[in-house]
Amino acid sequence: MLKRKDLLGLIDATKEEITEILDTADVMKRHLKAGEKQLPYLKGKTATILFYENSTRTRTSFELAAKYLGATVINIAAGSSSVAKGETLVDTGKTLDAQLNDFLIMRHPMGGAPYLLAKVAKAGVLNAGDGMNEHPTQALLDMLTMREHFGHLDGLKVAIVGDIKHSRVAKSNLFGLNAMGAQVRMYAPETLIPKGIDKLGAKLCKSKEETLEDADVVMGLRIQLERQQAGNFPSLNEYAEFYGVNGKDLKLAKPNAVIMHPGPVNRGVELTGKVIDHEKSRIEEQVFSGIAVRMACLKLLNDYRDSCK
Ligand code: CP
Repeated sequence: MLKRKDLLGLIDATKEEITEILDTADVMKRHLKAGEKQLPYLKGKTATILFYENSTRTRTSFELAAKYLGATVINIAAGSSSVAKGETLVDTGKTLDAQLNDFLIMRHPMGGAPYLLAKVAKAGVLNAGDGMNEHPTQALLDMLTMREHFGHLDGLKVAIVGDIKHSRVAKSNLFGLNAMGAQVRMYAPETLIPKGIDKLGAKLCKSKEETLEDADVVMGLRIQLERQQAGNFPSLNEYAEFYGVNGKDLKLAKPNAVIMHPGPVNRGVELTGKVIDHEKSRIEEQVFSGIAVRMACLKLLNDYRDSCK
């Protein structure tokens, strides 16, 4: 059984823990496909969604996941909360605890913010993306989507191309996929590769060809214009030509390779429109997997909370 109060990152996640989450997500997906959206696992529990950054996929899928499990769900947008009046994160956590929340689901621009919240809050904290640090449920839904296609994760060659430096998705995928025995290759302009990422287990490639050759998964990453200073690459057109993935590039990957992207996509920059809409694209399946994975995480954290009572 997953024995954690919080889900903050995959840096310390074991193969057994990830497998349990993915197996539970498989069950959740079967429920959803059967139209079963009124499950009892979080009946009587409350989850508060606290997003200090924009989101479409993650916020809505956490909300749907908690509701499908029977929880009461509250949404707080940072701009309309007392944070805007200067309340600290610690005091916000104490306030939400006093309201008997069971789970706090947080996205924050500062890396480490959910770790601080988890230290002070009695509620279970789920990291929905913290700065450039981690986005664990995104990597879990990516792994679920890969495992559904290939039947396994061990031995897969996963090629990640794009803005690695500012990407919490790349880091969580690196930790999770390494734990599951997959090889993670990375390719980006020098200015968008974080120092030491190879020491964390990534295989850094010197060309797009080396990255994509024989790959099972081709994953594009969004150019995070909101996080970077100007000057990491000369122009979007040149970025698209040298670091974007087009139909010709795809031919380097294995014949049964899949195309993935966490979204939102800059169409025509990281991936051409043809690649996004390609029959091998699993981008929409990733979105569906997101609800199942978040249901699984909430259920397993809740099972552990109940077992500690
Ligand atoms: N992949 C992802 O985190 O998307 P959102 O920013 O829309 O939540």
